[in-house]
Amino acid sequence: MKKWWSYTGLLLISASVTAQGIPSIVGKGKAIDPYNYAIVKKASYQKAAVSSAHPLASQVGAMIMKQGGNAFDAAIATQLALAVVYPAAGNLGGGGFLLARKKDGELIGLDYREAAPAAAQRDMYLDENGNAKISLSQNGHLASGIPGTVAGLFATLPYAKLSFAKLIQPAIDLAEKGFVISEREAVSLNSTRESLLKYNTKPVAFVKTEKWKAGDTLFQKELAGTLKRMQKNGAQGFYGGETAKLIVEEMQRGKGIISYDDLKNYTAKLREPIHFDYRGHHIISFSPPSSGGILIAQMLKMIEKFPVGSYGFQTQKSVQLMIEAERRAYADRAEHLGDPDFWKVPVDTLISEAYLSKRMQDYQPEKAGSSSTVKAGLIQQSEETTHLSVIDAQGTLVAVTTTLNGGYGSRTVVGGAGFLLNNEMDDFSVKPGVPNMYGALGGEANAIVPGKRMLSSMTPTLVLKNKKPYLTIGTPGGTTIPTSVFQALVNLIDFNMDLDNAINKPKFHHQWLPDEVTIERDFLPETRKQLEAMGYRIKDRSPIGRTEGIRILSNGKREAVADKRGDDSVAGF
Ligand code: DON
Repeated sequence: MKKWWSYTGLLLISASVTAQGIPSIVGKGKAIDPYNYAIVKKASYQKAAVSSAHPLASQVGAMIMKQGGNAFDAAIATQLALAVVYPAAGNLGGGGFLLARKKDGELIGLDYREAAPAAAQRDMYLDENGNAKISLSQNGHLASGIPGTVAGLFATLPYAKLSFAKLIQPAIDLAEKGFVISEREAVSLNSTRESLLKYNTKPVAFVKTEKWKAGDTLFQKELAGTLKRMQKNGAQGFYGGETAKLIVEEMQRGKGIISYDDLKNYTAKLREPIHFDYRGHHIISFSPPSSGGILIAQMLKMIEKFPVGSYGFQTQKSVQLMIEAERRAYADRAEHLGDPDFWKVPVDTLISEAYLSKRMQDYQPEKAGSSSTVKAGLIQQSEETTHLSVIDAQGTLVAVTTTLNGGYGSRTVVGGAGFLLNNEMDDFSVKPGVPNMYGALGGEANAIVPGKRMLSSMTPTLVLKNKKPYLTIGTPGGTTIPTSVFQALVNLIDFNMDLDNAINKPKFHHQWLPDEVTIERDFLPETRKQLEAMGYRIKDRSPIGRTEGIRILSNGKREAVADKRGDDSVAGF
């Protein structure tokens, strides 16, 4: 097997000006070298920074800002690069949410969540006896919602400064010229091999005869073709023409239901962000169809009356309080949250002080709560995602979380187009009481309806301190996303940690049902024992999330941190 350094000859093909007349910034000896790069976990920059799941994607975003782009340009270019260098989650065939605060204070919430195809039906994942067939909502063609990411990129473009042709060029180069993969990526591709073979009838770039090894180069020619069609024809290069034809043909090969009309009619939507104060900070996060903003508002407001800082980090006292806030918020999620265009979500009530202090009335310190007694509040009115954070020289904050849902989504690559489709339909409640792949339950609020967007946990979040831009943060992790963001914020605000510790300290998670607390392996053993003695069921689990954050320090520097839990990396200048 060749090592990355043996590909030097191949690098000669990297022209300095592309067919579109755009100078290429990716290649051997160029600003971004896809054959030789390093992970940077933490750094402070004078002007602008990006934190994302892949070093090359962060470098692309930073370089775009260096060349005159703003945080929106960087967010577009970074997402496009992630679609190439991080195929497990970065995507064209998925969806996401972008949250931004411009320097003048304008807030922008862009919803480009996937939607149920027109031919979707409420009971489409039930067999003749009414039993859920979750294999169909989780794998293969029928698992995909209509992809939203490309519509999201073009809805972001009016806020950007550079041309789309320029922003997409690094992704084209990375797909065409290839990039060297890490150990983690090799393991990930190898472990997905069987299902990629199962759900695809055409050759895919992610499968080769021998096993992948660290140092191999991944080329994605068909994906480069799709990106070039977008470069030439804009959103139409994805939702129409050749790419739409390839998507619909792929659907026909695997009994999927996404049609030409579904693709043509898909639009990104502007959403009013959720915002609220917490201990002198102003928190801004995403509203439904994401549950994230409401969940972190509920959890933070439920603990605000308690002197959490004085309890100490991950003591029995602080963890118990936070678990009980998590339990109550997630019970509400299951009952009340869904796509607001199809379900009346009682947003104001759910995050009101009056409602939340009532929710905590039965909280008993020293005694484990129970999800059989804690239910959703009564209201009197009718493992793969990725996050990137950007701050530019003007202080614009951008947070984007985007997903295929599970790792490599539905495992179906659009034949001839080179990109994976999501398995986001599993985020709907396929049947009341049947948990989705993250164990989340739902009912009517999140039932399948054609055109409806499935409920998400993605929580891109911004924070202002003393009314000034302070922090951009978010993470993947399914239902653990809101608890990860919640805990990172409490670590920063209540426990006065720096961003590195706030992100990298061990996390715990409770989501109402199942009634258990899952913890990372480095969670304090002493606190675990105390919680168990109180009656909590505690389970070890794999690492929680991959949080990317950037904050503006009092000296104006951008402190960027990438989670220790992956190949995540920062870049800036
Ligand atoms: O939107 C959601 O809530 C899920 N589809 C996110 C999935 C996810 O974060 C997987 N990552 N590890």
